[in-house]
Amino acid sequence: MNGKTNGPSVVSSSKPAANTGPADQQWYKPIISLHTDDGGNRHVYKAFRFSRGLLGKYFRFLASHEFRMLKKVEHLDFTPDQVRRPSDASPTIHYRLIEGASVKNVAAAKGVPDNFFLQLFSNVKILHQQGVAHLDLGNSGNIIVSGCGQPAIIDFGSAVPLSWLPSPVRAWARRKDVIGVLKLWHRFDSDSMPLFLEHYYQRHYRKNIYTPKRFVKALRRWLIGGSNTEGLSGLTNTISMFLGLLVPTSFILVVVSFS
Ligand SMILES: Nc1ncnc2c1ncn2[C@@H]1O[C@H](COP(=O)(O)OP(=O)(O)O)[C@@H](O)[C@H]1O
Ligand SMILES: [Mg+2]
Repeated sequence: MNGKTNGPSVVSSSKPAANTGPADQQWYKPIISLHTDDGGNRHVYKAFRFSRGLLGKYFRFLASHEFRMLKKVEHLDFTPDQVRRPSDASPTIHYRLIEGASVKNVAAAKGVPDNFFLQLFSNVKILHQQGVAHLDLGNSGNIIVSGCGQPAIIDFGSAVPLSWLPSPVRAWARRKDVIGVLKLWHRFDSDSMPLFLEHYYQRHYRKNIYTPKRFVKALRRWLIGGSNTEGLSGLTNTISMFLGLLVPTSFILVVVSFS
């Protein structure tokens, strides 16, 4: 459906067709580059920048986690396949490029194909049946419109096996994926959204304010300005974001130290 074809699994050392180099982005983001193999298939290389020291350990953990999640779903026809990792010591993974464009670009250029989000919605159900929650579907960069107009899902860095989670958290994870799809559906093709889903979305969607970027912004607002009242609410915001970030950060550190 997304244009998968069989091809050689070994990637040659051909030059990258495109990449996002270190100068383009933050140090903690992976570098994405494209390589073409001998059979003409294009592969995405996702490489974290550090492989040594504590940071290297952390990035190797991220690469190995994403690799394991991708392996669980690569047989589906809406996910990247031919997933490989050069070695356990490498902070790099690679898999086949899904030819197409991000849903955001397609929506801006010519609109999404008919039934696109309905199909995406049912793909997410299939993903959950395979035991995987994606957890970052509200990010439009992670949804590709394939060459034949079908939805594909990429970037399994935040994905988790549902079996890892206690049942209330499992329900939350499934709901988070559904809300992610509804968010994009509402943003890019709201006319085709069934009314009951629109109501569900309006009732459950909450903007995520607990991100490091927003924490730094709140901290800066609190440190450099505003009246007393604003200062107080800025401080409250900052503290609540700090606490909100503390939980996932501690979780990651515990997982890394045990891996
Ligand atoms: N299999 C793929 N097919 C097509 N494009 C891809 C694929 N993997 C990554 N990309 C492109 O690279 C970008 C970044 O990849 P992603 O895995 O989302 O990294 P990040 O973790 O930095 O968000 C995507 O938004 C998409 O444009
Ligand atoms: Mg992404």
